[in-house]
Amino acid sequence: MPSIPGNLAGEDICDLQRTEDTLVAQSTLRIMSVVGARPNMMKIAPFIHALKRADAPFEHILVHTGQHYDASMSGNFLETLGIPAPDTNLGIGSGSHAEQVGKTMMAFEKVVRAREPDWIVVVGDVNATCACAITAKKEHRRLAHIEAGLRSFDMEMPEEINRIVTDRLADLLFTPDTMAGDNLRKEGVPEERIKCVGNIMIDTLEKNRARAQALNLPAIVKANLLDKNREADVPRLSQGYAVLTLHRPSNVDDRAVLEPLIRYFCDDLAPGLPLLWTLHPRTKKHLEDFGLWKSVGDAPGVFLLEPLGYREMLRLNMDADIMFTDSGGLQEECCVLGTPCVTLRYNTERPVTLTEHGGVSVLTGNDIDAIRAACQSMRGKRKPSSRPPLWDGDTAARIVACLENDGGT
Ligand code: UD1
Repeated sequence: MPSIPGNLAGEDICDLQRTEDTLVAQSTLRIMSVVGARPNMMKIAPFIHALKRADAPFEHILVHTGQHYDASMSGNFLETLGIPAPDTNLGIGSGSHAEQVGKTMMAFEKVVRAREPDWIVVVGDVNATCACAITAKKEHRRLAHIEAGLRSFDMEMPEEINRIVTDRLADLLFTPDTMAGDNLRKEGVPEERIKCVGNIMIDTLEKNRARAQALNLPAIVKANLLDKNREADVPRLSQGYAVLTLHRPSNVDDRAVLEPLIRYFCDDLAPGLPLLWTLHPRTKKHLEDFGLWKSVGDAPGVFLLEPLGYREMLRLNMDADIMFTDSGGLQEECCVLGTPCVTLRYNTERPVTLTEHGGVSVLTGNDIDAIRAACQSMRGKRKPSSRPPLWDGDTAARIVACLENDGGT
Protein backbone atom coordinates (compact mmCIF):
# COMPACT_ATOMS: atom_id res chain seq x y z
CA MET A 1 0.00 0.00 0.00
CA PRO A 2 1.47 3.39 -0.90
CA SER A 3 1.93 5.95 1.89
CA ILE A 4 -1.10 8.23 2.32
CA PRO A 5 -0.14 11.79 1.49
CA GLY A 6 -1.30 14.85 3.40
CA ASN A 7 -2.45 15.29 6.97
CA LEU A 8 -5.30 12.91 7.72
CA ALA A 9 -5.62 13.90 11.41
CA GLY A 10 -9.21 14.66 12.33
CA GLU A 11 -10.75 12.79 9.42
CA ASP A 12 -13.29 10.20 10.39
CA ILE A 13 -13.00 6.60 9.40
CA CYS A 14 -15.35 7.03 6.43
CA ASP A 15 -13.25 9.84 5.06
CA LEU A 16 -10.16 7.70 5.50
CA GLN A 17 -11.88 4.85 3.71
CA ARG A 18 -12.80 7.17 0.85
CA THR A 19 -9.24 8.43 0.74
CA GLU A 20 -7.93 4.88 0.57
CA ASP A 21 -10.43 3.98 -2.13
CA THR A 22 -9.23 6.93 -4.15
CA LEU A 23 -5.64 5.87 -3.68
CA VAL A 24 -6.40 2.29 -4.66
CA ALA A 25 -8.14 3.55 -7.77
CA GLN A 26 -5.08 5.65 -8.55
CA SER A 27 -2.84 2.63 -8.09
CA THR A 28 -4.70 0.40 -10.53
CA LEU A 29 -2.10 -1.90 -12.01
CA ARG A 30 -1.82 -1.85 -15.75
CA ILE A 31 -0.91 -5.34 -16.90
CA MET A 32 0.09 -6.11 -20.46
CA SER A 33 0.12 -9.79 -21.37
CA VAL A 34 1.43 -11.36 -24.53
CA VAL A 35 0.42 -14.27 -26.76
CA GLY A 36 2.14 -15.27 -29.97
CA ALA A 37 1.71 -18.92 -30.80
CA ARG A 38 -0.80 -21.69 -30.19
CA PRO A 39 0.65 -23.07 -26.94
CA ASN A 40 0.42 -19.61 -25.34
CA MET A 41 -3.37 -19.55 -25.57
CA MET A 42 -4.17 -22.18 -22.94
CA LYS A 43 -1.70 -20.48 -20.58
CA ILE A 44 -2.97 -16.93 -20.94
CA ALA A 45 -6.71 -17.74 -20.80
CA PRO A 46 -6.89 -18.64 -17.09
CA PHE A 47 -4.68 -15.68 -16.20
CA ILE A 48 -7.02 -13.23 -17.94
CA HIS A 49 -10.07 -14.82 -16.32
CA ALA A 50 -8.41 -14.63 -12.89
CA LEU A 51 -7.55 -10.95 -13.37
CA LYS A 52 -11.22 -10.26 -14.00
CA ARG A 53 -12.23 -12.08 -10.82
CA ALA A 54 -9.62 -10.37 -8.63
CA ASP A 55 -10.59 -7.87 -5.91
CA ALA A 56 -7.79 -5.51 -6.80
CA PRO A 57 -8.32 -3.25 -9.78
CA PHE A 58 -6.30 -4.35 -12.78
CA GLU A 59 -6.31 -2.82 -16.20
CA HIS A 60 -5.44 -5.48 -18.73
CA ILE A 61 -4.05 -5.08 -22.23
CA LEU A 62 -3.61 -8.15 -24.45
CA VAL A 63 -1.01 -8.09 -27.21
CA HIS A 64 -0.94 -10.82 -29.89
CA THR A 65 2.36 -10.81 -31.75
CA GLY A 66 0.80 -12.65 -34.71
CA GLN A 67 3.49 -15.37 -34.83
CA HIS A 68 0.62 -17.82 -35.40
CA TYR A 69 -2.11 -16.40 -37.59
CA ASP A 70 -4.21 -19.25 -39.08
CA ALA A 71 -7.63 -19.65 -37.49
CA SER A 72 -6.74 -23.23 -36.59
CA MET A 73 -3.52 -22.12 -34.82
CA SER A 74 -4.81 -18.95 -33.16
CA GLY A 75 -8.31 -17.45 -33.66
CA ASN A 76 -10.24 -20.62 -32.82
CA PHE A 77 -8.35 -20.92 -29.56
CA LEU A 78 -9.07 -17.35 -28.54
CA GLU A 79 -12.75 -17.97 -29.11
CA THR A 80 -13.04 -21.39 -27.45
CA LEU A 81 -11.03 -20.35 -24.40
CA GLY A 82 -12.93 -17.10 -23.92
CA ILE A 83 -9.88 -14.91 -24.51
CA PRO A 84 -10.94 -11.36 -25.43
CA ALA A 85 -9.96 -10.02 -28.82
CA PRO A 86 -6.37 -8.75 -28.48
CA ASP A 87 -6.05 -4.97 -28.06
CA THR A 88 -3.23 -5.07 -30.58
CA ASN A 89 -2.02 -7.63 -33.11
CA LEU A 90 1.56 -7.00 -34.21
CA GLY A 91 1.09 -9.15 -37.33
CA ILE A 92 4.61 -10.58 -37.26
CA GLY A 93 3.80 -13.87 -39.03
CA SER A 94 6.28 -16.51 -40.14
CA GLY A 95 10.00 -16.05 -40.73
CA SER A 96 13.41 -17.05 -39.45
CA HIS A 97 14.01 -16.82 -35.71
CA ALA A 98 15.91 -13.57 -36.04
CA GLU A 99 13.16 -12.11 -38.19
CA GLN A 100 10.41 -13.13 -35.80
CA VAL A 101 12.26 -11.94 -32.68
CA GLY A 102 13.57 -8.74 -34.26
CA LYS A 103 10.28 -7.68 -35.82
CA THR A 104 8.40 -8.49 -32.62
CA MET A 105 10.78 -6.37 -30.53
CA MET A 106 10.45 -3.39 -32.87
CA ALA A 107 6.66 -3.53 -32.95
CA PHE A 108 6.23 -4.36 -29.26
CA GLU A 109 8.48 -1.48 -28.19
CA LYS A 110 6.03 0.99 -29.73
CA VAL A 111 3.09 -0.57 -27.90
CA VAL A 112 4.93 -0.55 -24.58
CA ARG A 113 5.90 3.10 -25.00
CA ALA A 114 2.34 4.06 -25.89
CA ARG A 115 0.63 2.16 -23.07
CA GLU A 116 3.29 2.21 -20.31
CA PRO A 117 2.22 -0.95 -18.47
CA ASP A 118 3.29 -1.56 -14.87
CA TRP A 119 3.79 -5.26 -15.56
CA ILE A 120 4.41 -7.24 -18.71
CA VAL A 121 3.40 -10.87 -18.38
CA VAL A 122 4.76 -13.46 -20.81
CA VAL A 123 4.02 -17.19 -20.91
CA GLY A 124 5.85 -20.28 -22.12
CA ASP A 125 8.87 -20.37 -24.38
CA VAL A 126 8.04 -19.30 -27.93
CA ASN A 127 9.79 -16.54 -29.86
CA ALA A 128 7.13 -14.03 -28.79
CA THR A 129 7.93 -14.80 -25.12
CA CYS A 130 11.60 -14.02 -25.50
CA ALA A 131 11.20 -10.99 -27.79
CA CYS A 132 8.68 -9.31 -25.52
CA ALA A 133 10.69 -10.15 -22.39
CA ILE A 134 13.78 -8.39 -23.77
CA THR A 135 11.73 -5.40 -24.87
CA ALA A 136 9.98 -5.19 -21.51
CA LYS A 137 13.25 -4.86 -19.60
CA LYS A 138 14.83 -2.48 -22.10
CA GLU A 139 11.79 -0.28 -21.52
CA HIS A 140 12.26 -0.61 -17.72
CA ARG A 141 9.00 -2.47 -17.21
CA ARG A 142 8.49 -5.13 -14.59
CA LEU A 143 8.38 -8.56 -16.14
CA ALA A 144 6.61 -11.71 -14.99
CA HIS A 145 7.12 -15.10 -16.61
CA ILE A 146 4.48 -17.81 -16.30
CA GLU A 147 5.97 -21.32 -16.72
CA ALA A 148 9.42 -20.25 -15.59
CA GLY A 149 12.32 -22.54 -14.74
CA LEU A 150 11.80 -25.32 -17.28
CA ARG A 151 15.07 -26.54 -18.76
CA SER A 152 15.78 -29.21 -21.39
CA PHE A 153 19.52 -28.38 -21.22
CA ASP A 154 19.46 -28.68 -25.03
CA MET A 155 20.78 -25.46 -26.52
CA GLU A 156 19.86 -26.60 -30.02
CA MET A 157 16.23 -26.17 -29.10
CA PRO A 158 15.08 -22.62 -29.88
CA GLU A 159 12.68 -22.77 -26.94
CA GLU A 160 15.57 -23.43 -24.49
CA ILE A 161 17.22 -20.16 -25.53
CA ASN A 162 13.88 -18.38 -25.12
CA ARG A 163 13.41 -19.86 -21.65
CA ILE A 164 16.89 -18.94 -20.41
CA VAL A 165 16.76 -15.36 -21.71
CA THR A 166 13.25 -14.76 -20.36
CA ASP A 167 14.03 -16.19 -16.91
CA ARG A 168 17.26 -14.22 -16.63
CA LEU A 169 15.31 -11.01 -17.14
CA ALA A 170 12.10 -11.69 -15.21
CA ASP A 171 11.29 -9.96 -11.91
CA LEU A 172 8.74 -12.59 -10.94
CA LEU A 173 9.17 -16.20 -12.02
CA PHE A 174 6.05 -18.36 -11.72
CA THR A 175 7.12 -22.01 -11.73
CA PRO A 176 4.95 -25.08 -12.36
CA ASP A 177 6.80 -27.47 -10.05
CA THR A 178 9.65 -27.72 -7.57
CA MET A 179 12.16 -29.04 -10.13
CA ALA A 180 11.72 -25.84 -12.13
CA GLY A 181 12.41 -23.79 -8.99
CA ASP A 182 15.56 -25.81 -8.35
CA ASN A 183 16.82 -25.04 -11.87
CA LEU A 184 16.39 -21.33 -11.20
CA ARG A 185 18.15 -21.48 -7.83
CA LYS A 186 21.12 -23.22 -9.46
CA GLU A 187 21.26 -20.33 -11.93
CA GLY A 188 21.38 -17.85 -9.05
CA VAL A 189 17.87 -16.42 -9.28
CA PRO A 190 17.09 -14.73 -5.94
CA GLU A 191 14.65 -16.75 -3.85
CA GLU A 192 12.13 -13.94 -3.49
CA ARG A 193 11.55 -13.84 -7.24
CA ILE A 194 10.61 -17.53 -7.50
CA LYS A 195 6.96 -18.35 -6.89
CA CYS A 196 5.87 -21.97 -7.17
CA VAL A 197 2.26 -21.66 -8.31
CA GLY A 198 1.58 -24.90 -10.23
CA ASN A 199 0.78 -25.54 -13.86
CA ILE A 200 -1.54 -22.98 -15.41
CA MET A 201 -2.37 -25.25 -18.38
CA ILE A 202 -4.13 -27.56 -15.98
CA ASP A 203 -6.50 -24.70 -15.07
CA THR A 204 -7.58 -24.73 -18.72
CA LEU A 205 -7.79 -28.51 -18.83
CA GLU A 206 -10.04 -28.67 -15.76
CA LYS A 207 -12.25 -25.87 -17.01
CA ASN A 208 -12.81 -27.63 -20.34
CA ARG A 209 -12.82 -31.26 -19.23
CA ALA A 210 -16.60 -31.79 -19.06
CA ARG A 211 -17.34 -30.09 -22.37
CA ALA A 212 -14.57 -32.06 -24.06
CA GLN A 213 -15.86 -35.33 -22.61
CA ALA A 214 -19.27 -34.66 -24.16
CA LEU A 215 -17.85 -34.48 -27.70
CA ASN A 216 -18.32 -37.43 -30.05
CA LEU A 217 -15.01 -38.99 -31.02
CA PRO A 218 -15.70 -40.29 -34.56
CA ALA A 219 -17.54 -37.03 -35.30
CA ILE A 220 -14.41 -35.03 -34.40
CA VAL A 221 -12.30 -37.20 -36.69
CA LYS A 222 -14.74 -36.99 -39.61
CA ALA A 223 -15.16 -33.22 -39.28
CA ASN A 224 -11.39 -32.63 -39.32
CA LEU A 225 -10.20 -35.14 -41.93
CA LEU A 226 -7.87 -33.57 -44.44
CA ASP A 227 -9.07 -36.04 -47.06
CA LYS A 228 -12.84 -36.01 -46.94
CA ASN A 229 -12.92 -39.11 -49.18
CA ARG A 230 -11.70 -41.14 -46.20
CA GLU A 231 -14.82 -40.45 -44.11
CA ALA A 232 -16.30 -43.90 -44.69
CA ASP A 233 -13.06 -45.51 -43.46
CA VAL A 234 -13.19 -43.86 -40.02
CA PRO A 235 -13.78 -46.68 -37.51
CA ARG A 236 -15.94 -46.31 -34.38
CA LEU A 237 -12.68 -46.06 -32.41
CA SER A 238 -14.14 -48.05 -29.52
CA GLN A 239 -11.55 -50.78 -30.23
CA GLY A 240 -8.73 -48.36 -29.48
CA TYR A 241 -6.63 -45.81 -31.32
CA ALA A 242 -3.36 -43.91 -31.13
CA VAL A 243 -2.80 -40.15 -31.47
CA LEU A 244 0.26 -38.58 -33.08
CA THR A 245 1.50 -34.98 -33.11
CA LEU A 246 4.84 -34.02 -34.59
CA HIS A 247 6.20 -30.54 -35.21
CA ARG A 248 9.69 -30.04 -33.72
CA PRO A 249 12.29 -29.00 -36.28
CA SER A 250 14.49 -31.86 -35.00
CA ASN A 251 11.84 -34.38 -36.10
CA VAL A 252 10.31 -32.89 -39.22
CA ASP A 253 12.84 -30.63 -40.98
CA ASP A 254 15.21 -33.41 -42.10
CA ARG A 255 13.96 -36.06 -44.49
CA ALA A 256 16.42 -38.64 -43.10
CA VAL A 257 14.65 -38.32 -39.73
CA LEU A 258 11.07 -37.82 -40.87
CA GLU A 259 10.87 -40.65 -43.38
CA PRO A 260 11.72 -43.55 -41.00
CA LEU A 261 9.24 -42.13 -38.49
CA ILE A 262 6.57 -42.07 -41.17
CA ARG A 263 7.36 -45.62 -42.22
CA TYR A 264 7.05 -46.87 -38.64
CA PHE A 265 3.71 -45.16 -38.03
CA CYS A 266 2.20 -45.98 -41.43
CA ASP A 267 3.56 -49.48 -42.05
CA ASP A 268 4.04 -50.97 -38.56
CA LEU A 269 1.59 -49.28 -36.23
CA ALA A 270 -1.48 -48.10 -38.13
CA PRO A 271 -2.49 -51.43 -39.78
CA GLY A 272 -3.15 -52.76 -36.25
CA LEU A 273 -4.17 -49.59 -34.40
CA PRO A 274 -5.92 -46.63 -36.06
CA LEU A 275 -3.67 -43.59 -35.93
CA LEU A 276 -5.19 -40.10 -35.59
CA TRP A 277 -2.52 -37.68 -36.71
CA THR A 278 -3.18 -33.97 -36.23
CA LEU A 279 -0.94 -32.18 -38.68
CA HIS A 280 1.01 -29.05 -37.79
CA PRO A 281 1.54 -26.71 -40.79
CA ARG A 282 5.33 -27.14 -40.56
CA THR A 283 5.01 -30.93 -40.81
CA LYS A 284 2.48 -30.78 -43.64
CA LYS A 285 4.81 -28.57 -45.63
CA HIS A 286 7.75 -30.94 -45.17
CA LEU A 287 5.73 -34.04 -46.05
CA GLU A 288 4.81 -32.30 -49.29
CA ASP A 289 8.34 -31.02 -49.97
CA PHE A 290 9.87 -34.45 -49.33
CA GLY A 291 7.35 -36.20 -51.64
CA LEU A 292 5.92 -38.22 -48.72
CA TRP A 293 2.45 -36.75 -48.73
CA LYS A 294 0.70 -39.32 -50.91
CA SER A 295 2.08 -42.41 -49.20
CA VAL A 296 1.02 -41.06 -45.80
CA GLY A 297 -2.39 -39.92 -47.01
CA ASP A 298 -3.15 -43.32 -48.56
CA ALA A 299 -1.86 -45.45 -45.66
CA PRO A 300 -4.60 -47.73 -44.28
CA GLY A 301 -5.46 -46.85 -40.68
CA VAL A 302 -3.81 -43.42 -40.83
CA PHE A 303 -6.21 -40.48 -40.52
CA LEU A 304 -4.64 -37.10 -41.21
CA LEU A 305 -6.44 -34.30 -39.40
CA GLU A 306 -6.35 -30.51 -39.44
CA PRO A 307 -4.84 -28.89 -36.33
CA LEU A 308 -7.62 -29.52 -33.80
CA GLY A 309 -9.38 -27.13 -31.46
CA TYR A 310 -8.53 -27.28 -27.75
CA ARG A 311 -11.49 -29.39 -26.63
CA GLU A 312 -11.33 -31.70 -29.63
CA MET A 313 -7.68 -32.51 -28.88
CA LEU A 314 -8.49 -33.03 -25.22
CA ARG A 315 -11.26 -35.47 -26.21
CA LEU A 316 -8.86 -37.47 -28.38
CA ASN A 317 -6.37 -37.58 -25.54
CA MET A 318 -8.95 -38.72 -22.98
CA ASP A 319 -9.53 -42.17 -24.51
CA ALA A 320 -6.36 -42.77 -26.53
CA ASP A 321 -4.57 -46.09 -26.04
CA ILE A 322 -1.33 -44.22 -26.53
CA MET A 323 -0.04 -40.75 -27.43
CA PHE A 324 3.03 -40.16 -29.60
CA THR A 325 4.15 -36.56 -29.41
CA ASP A 326 7.00 -34.09 -29.41
CA SER A 327 4.86 -31.40 -27.76
CA GLY A 328 5.64 -30.24 -24.22
CA GLY A 329 2.06 -29.39 -23.33
CA LEU A 330 0.70 -32.76 -24.37
CA GLN A 331 3.19 -34.54 -22.08
CA GLU A 332 1.65 -32.61 -19.20
CA GLU A 333 -1.95 -33.16 -20.28
CA CYS A 334 -1.28 -36.91 -20.68
CA CYS A 335 0.04 -36.93 -17.12
CA VAL A 336 -3.17 -35.55 -15.69
CA LEU A 337 -5.39 -37.66 -17.98
CA GLY A 338 -3.36 -40.85 -17.45
CA THR A 339 -2.66 -41.43 -21.16
CA PRO A 340 0.54 -43.43 -21.86
CA CYS A 341 2.80 -41.00 -23.68
CA VAL A 342 5.75 -41.80 -25.95
CA THR A 343 7.68 -38.54 -26.16
CA LEU A 344 9.52 -38.34 -29.49
CA ARG A 345 12.41 -36.37 -28.03
CA TYR A 346 15.73 -37.20 -26.39
CA ASN A 347 15.22 -34.72 -23.57
CA THR A 348 12.41 -32.83 -21.93
CA GLU A 349 12.13 -29.58 -20.02
CA ARG A 350 9.23 -31.25 -18.17
CA PRO A 351 10.88 -34.17 -16.32
CA VAL A 352 8.04 -34.22 -13.82
CA THR A 353 5.95 -35.94 -16.54
CA LEU A 354 8.34 -38.88 -16.91
CA THR A 355 7.52 -42.33 -15.52
CA GLU A 356 10.55 -42.22 -13.22
CA HIS A 357 9.01 -39.21 -11.49
CA GLY A 358 5.56 -40.78 -11.26
CA GLY A 359 4.28 -39.52 -14.64
CA VAL A 360 3.21 -41.32 -17.82
CA SER A 361 5.82 -40.34 -20.37
CA VAL A 362 8.97 -42.05 -21.72
CA LEU A 363 11.60 -40.43 -23.93
CA THR A 364 12.41 -42.30 -27.15
CA GLY A 365 13.68 -39.54 -29.42
CA ASN A 366 13.28 -40.59 -33.04
CA ASP A 367 14.86 -44.00 -32.46
CA ILE A 368 12.42 -46.38 -34.15
CA ASP A 369 13.38 -49.43 -32.06
CA ALA A 370 12.87 -47.45 -28.87
CA ILE A 371 9.50 -46.15 -30.10
CA ARG A 372 8.38 -49.66 -31.04
CA ALA A 373 9.45 -51.11 -27.67
CA ALA A 374 7.76 -48.29 -25.73
CA CYS A 375 4.57 -48.77 -27.70
CA GLN A 376 4.51 -52.51 -27.08
CA SER A 377 4.91 -52.12 -23.34
CA MET A 378 2.67 -49.05 -22.81
CA ARG A 379 -0.15 -49.24 -25.31
CA GLY A 380 -3.62 -49.60 -23.82
CA LYS A 381 -2.33 -49.29 -20.25
CA ARG A 382 -4.01 -46.08 -19.19
CA LYS A 383 -2.91 -44.97 -15.76
CA PRO A 384 -4.57 -43.22 -12.85
CA SER A 385 -4.14 -39.48 -13.11
CA SER A 386 -0.71 -38.30 -11.98
CA ARG A 387 -0.89 -34.82 -10.62
CA PRO A 388 2.17 -33.00 -9.30
CA PRO A 389 1.44 -30.66 -6.37
CA LEU A 390 -0.49 -27.50 -7.31
CA TRP A 391 -1.63 -28.88 -10.69
CA ASP A 392 -5.11 -28.34 -9.35
CA GLY A 393 -6.82 -25.78 -11.57
CA ASP A 394 -6.12 -22.81 -9.26
CA THR A 395 -2.73 -21.70 -10.56
CA ALA A 396 -3.95 -18.50 -12.21
CA ALA A 397 -5.57 -17.30 -8.98
CA ARG A 398 -2.25 -17.82 -7.16
CA ILE A 399 -0.43 -15.81 -9.83
CA VAL A 400 -2.85 -12.92 -9.63
CA ALA A 401 -2.61 -12.93 -5.82
CA CYS A 402 1.19 -12.63 -6.14
CA LEU A 403 0.86 -9.72 -8.54
CA GLU A 404 -1.56 -8.02 -6.13
CA ASN A 405 0.96 -8.41 -3.32
CA ASP A 406 4.09 -7.55 -5.27
CA GLY A 407 2.33 -5.15 -7.59
CA GLY A 408 3.18 -2.00 -5.73
CA THR A 409 6.85 -2.81 -5.10
C1 UD1 B 1 6.17 -22.50 -32.54
C2 UD1 B 1 7.07 -22.46 -31.29
C3 UD1 B 1 7.06 -23.83 -30.61
C4 UD1 B 1 5.65 -24.32 -30.35
C5 UD1 B 1 4.89 -24.30 -31.67
C6 UD1 B 1 3.47 -24.77 -31.51
C7 UD1 B 1 9.02 -20.96 -31.37
C8 UD1 B 1 10.49 -20.94 -31.49
N1 UD1 B 1 8.44 -22.16 -31.61
O1 UD1 B 1 6.77 -23.39 -33.45
O2 UD1 B 1 7.74 -23.74 -29.38
O3 UD1 B 1 5.70 -25.63 -29.83
O4 UD1 B 1 4.89 -22.95 -32.15
O5 UD1 B 1 2.84 -24.77 -32.74
O6 UD1 B 1 8.41 -19.97 -31.09
N2 UD1 B 1 2.48 -21.65 -39.98
C9 UD1 B 1 1.25 -21.61 -40.58
N3 UD1 B 1 0.26 -20.95 -39.92
C10 UD1 B 1 0.42 -20.35 -38.72
C11 UD1 B 1 1.70 -20.39 -38.14
C12 UD1 B 1 2.72 -21.05 -38.77
O7 UD1 B 1 1.05 -22.13 -41.66
O8 UD1 B 1 -0.54 -19.80 -38.18
C13 UD1 B 1 3.56 -22.40 -40.65
C14 UD1 B 1 4.50 -21.53 -41.43
O9 UD1 B 1 4.91 -22.23 -42.56
C15 UD1 B 1 5.69 -21.40 -40.49
C16 UD1 B 1 5.66 -22.75 -39.78
O10 UD1 B 1 4.30 -23.08 -39.66
O11 UD1 B 1 6.85 -21.13 -41.15
C17 UD1 B 1 6.29 -22.75 -38.43
O12 UD1 B 1 5.75 -21.71 -37.61
P1 UD1 B 1 6.66 -20.98 -36.52
O13 UD1 B 1 5.89 -19.93 -35.83
O14 UD1 B 1 7.96 -20.59 -37.15
O15 UD1 B 1 7.06 -22.11 -35.50
P2 UD1 B 1 6.32 -23.42 -34.99
O16 UD1 B 1 6.98 -24.61 -35.58
O17 UD1 B 1 4.83 -23.33 -35.09
